[in-house]
Amino acid sequence: MCGICSAIGGENKIFEVLNGLKKLEYRGYDSSGIAYFDNGKIKVIKSIGEIKNLEKEIDNSLYSNNVIGHTRWATHGKVSFENAHPHLSQDKRYALVHNGIVENFETLREKLLSDIDFLSQTDTEVLVNLIAKQQGSTLQKLISACSLVEGSFALCLQHEKEQKIYLAKRKSPLMVAKNEHGCMASSDMSVFAGRFETCYIMNDNEFAVMDNKNILFFDKNGKKIEKNAIFIKNCDFCEENNSEKYFMLKEIKEQSLVIKRTFFKYFVENVFLQFDDLKKYKSFHFIACGTAFHSALLGARFIQKFCHKKCEVSVASEFRYDDNVLSKKCLYVFVSQSGETADTIACAEIVANRGFDTMAVTNVPYCSLNNLTKFVLPTFAGKEVAVASTKAYTAQVFTLLILALKISGHNYSQILKNFSNTFEIEKPDENVVNFVSGFKKIFFIGRQQDYVTSLEGALKLKEIAYVNCLGMAGGELKHGTLALVDGQTLVIALSTQFSLKEKMESNIQEVKARGGKILLLSQFEPMVDVDMFVPLAKFEEFLMPIVGIVPLQFLAFAYATKLGLNPDKPRNLAKSVTVE
Ligand code: AGP
Repeated sequence: MCGICSAIGGENKIFEVLNGLKKLEYRGYDSSGIAYFDNGKIKVIKSIGEIKNLEKEIDNSLYSNNVIGHTRWATHGKVSFENAHPHLSQDKRYALVHNGIVENFETLREKLLSDIDFLSQTDTEVLVNLIAKQQGSTLQKLISACSLVEGSFALCLQHEKEQKIYLAKRKSPLMVAKNEHGCMASSDMSVFAGRFETCYIMNDNEFAVMDNKNILFFDKNGKKIEKNAIFIKNCDFCEENNSEKYFMLKEIKEQSLVIKRTFFKYFVENVFLQFDDLKKYKSFHFIACGTAFHSALLGARFIQKFCHKKCEVSVASEFRYDDNVLSKKCLYVFVSQSGETADTIACAEIVANRGFDTMAVTNVPYCSLNNLTKFVLPTFAGKEVAVASTKAYTAQVFTLLILALKISGHNYSQILKNFSNTFEIEKPDENVVNFVSGFKKIFFIGRQQDYVTSLEGALKLKEIAYVNCLGMAGGELKHGTLALVDGQTLVIALSTQFSLKEKMESNIQEVKARGGKILLLSQFEPMVDVDMFVPLAKFEEFLMPIVGIVPLQFLAFAYATKLGLNPDKPRNLAKSVTVE
């Protein structure tokens, strides 16, 4: 993971990089740091924790026109000052920030760098010393060091005697932009918004050199290459204004708008013109991680329900090591908010390299996943900042529903339009929040589509409130987990399918009989005794996964904030998981 940002030019770049890092903080917030030119020397400032801590270390009068910066999500080496980036070569002439993993760093360290006294446990310090050890110009050294590396990197490199910043990219995102004030590199495009009109997206195994005015691009043999600039749209994707205390709250509340926007994009603007091309596929295989895996589970259900086509769903980190039997008649669908998740990308590469058809369902324009796939079905959640995915999930679910309906030829546009016009975000009552936050042992249960909502509801509560909870199929409870149910247990039950209402009520009875407490979320009045009831708005059954998840997002948010936790930045996590 990690975010990198660097800037060079005729004016002070310290605060440009600092502001860039703030926008990249979603990529990790274990530590951060900058390296900058100061009177012919490279100086470094680092800090543990959020960027605001780094900001406190930086004097308002600090000036430098050559700065590289980093915000870290720890992989190699614990969270510590020593392990924070930037890292310097032993001779102090080179400074490096790095997003990615040098998988063979131990071999490199032992075989090629045995004379170096390392100050940190990071693979990045190995890399910067490896670069310093190579022969030739700085660019040649960089290219040569990268050829020895197994793994992924997006990196920015300074040499103390050159008014330049060197860049390299493999499997981690990196883009660059220039204007009359200088050049900038960043892990994502939002950093450029408002300052640059165009930017260049670097491809794997490309290198670049930025100076005060220009950016030159090179291939892995050091041969100059030309690249086309793309326009940075003044899009809501870069929008980060937040009047709420937390982004997560803003993003939960935005979901009705996201549904409206998605309907407009697919039914009025007709942004995707290839639905007919997708009808030929006999089956669909969805691959994703985390929350995107949950929306993929629903996507598969929608395709099966409306198109009667066989579907499979795989967790990306498993799929990539499976002995997969792939089929020409199958479309492989990769669902990812960021489009940068390493496991999902690895799977897309495996499938695409073997010549099978692929589709990305992504929320970030120009992300790496989109480059790999035959089709791109965009979601329109807008930029999601909070680590816990909320509006990106509902955007994925609604988009996958539209996909299924468009492929099936069913004319549900009026129903979807009505939903997009009337779906409102409702917060559960304070007494429900108080009730739930009194429990430390919580199970979420549901059947079929509600089982998926249970999984997603439990994930939200785990990741932001650190509650040890579990989402599961209602019918599975009695096969083991019921043994854990006692008077201190809360079971949050979802029931949005009329045909399964009585089955869910039986599951509720099983819990009540063991002294467990029940919170039921349903659009149907309960016929059994429950401790707390959250009525859901009534829409067609296939829309209820969107309706049902919203109160669970609110409950997780409220639980976390009651504990004094920052729901936007849960411990140990980062928004975009660009390492395996
Ligand atoms: C969501 O709340 C999680 N933080 C996480 O599971 C996330 O959905 C997962 O890492 C996949 O990310 P992606 O959608 O960007 O691929």
